Amino acid sequence: MRLKALSTVACLLWTSCAAASPLLAQELKCRQDADFHWVATWTSMPQLVEQSNLPPAPFTGSSVFKDATLRQTLHMSIGAERIRIRISNTFGGSALPITAASLALPTGGQAGVSGIDTKTLRGLTFNGASSVTIPQGQMIYTDPIDVKIEPQSMITVTLYSQAGQSGTSITGHPGSRTTSWMQQGNHVNASSVTGANTAHWYFLNAVEAWAPKSTAALVILGDSITDGRGSTDNQNNRLDPYPE
Ligand SMILES: *[C@@H]1O[C@H](CO)[C@@H](O)[C@H](O)[C@H]1NC(C)=O
Repeated sequence: MRLKALSTVACLLWTSCAAASPLLAQELKCRQDADFHWVATWTSMPQLVEQSNLPPAPFTGSSVFKDATLRQTLHMSIGAERIRIRISNTFGGSALPITAASLALPTGGQAGVSGIDTKTLRGLTFNGASSVTIPQGQMIYTDPIDVKIEPQSMITVTLYSQAGQSGTSITGHPGSRTTSWMQQGNHVNASSVTGANTAHWYFLNAVEAWAPKSTAALVILGDSITDGRGSTDNQNNRLDPYPE
């Protein structure tokens, strides 16, 4: 499988440098890298988005998010100094073109806000390119980003698609309990995205942290309550059935 192949390549990349480096410090760093792996610090269960959960007009028409910017905030579990982001076109009815993408910290570290701290902006790349087209039915990773992520903090990922995804079959996670923002045109690096908003996530599927091999993630199978139904939008108080 392509994803498995990709992570194997990443592993080889990080383990092979020890042999090449004559410097002790770097060698130690490389050995440390060999004891690391990618583990999800945020994830959303992908599904085919129902018609009623598609973005509002004009972001849905004969295509979705045509010439549109989509800004989404995500809640990290563990912290890290290197992350990568997975984008899904698993349920898409056509190829998904991403023209530009960025990472930043949201204003005030808050969930569901349209603003970012522009000093924290990072361009996202895909095999070194700033654009990518994700084939129908596939997922892709961004290149790893060396950035300090605090545990239990929020990040903002902004996507811009010039062509949009043709048709109305797209991948998303309708029960985000988190507000996402959208605006016509390319505002991938704008301090604020001031268009429509909706409490759904689209396309973003996981944020993975480069973490010690002793770090693992839990998989929880359940229903909409497990997924956060009953929690408060933009508070990330899901999975707390007995709040004090
Ligand atoms: C957004 O800002 C980042 C960081 O400065 C830069 O690398 C990237 O090229 C910018 N993207 C666009 C679309 O302007």
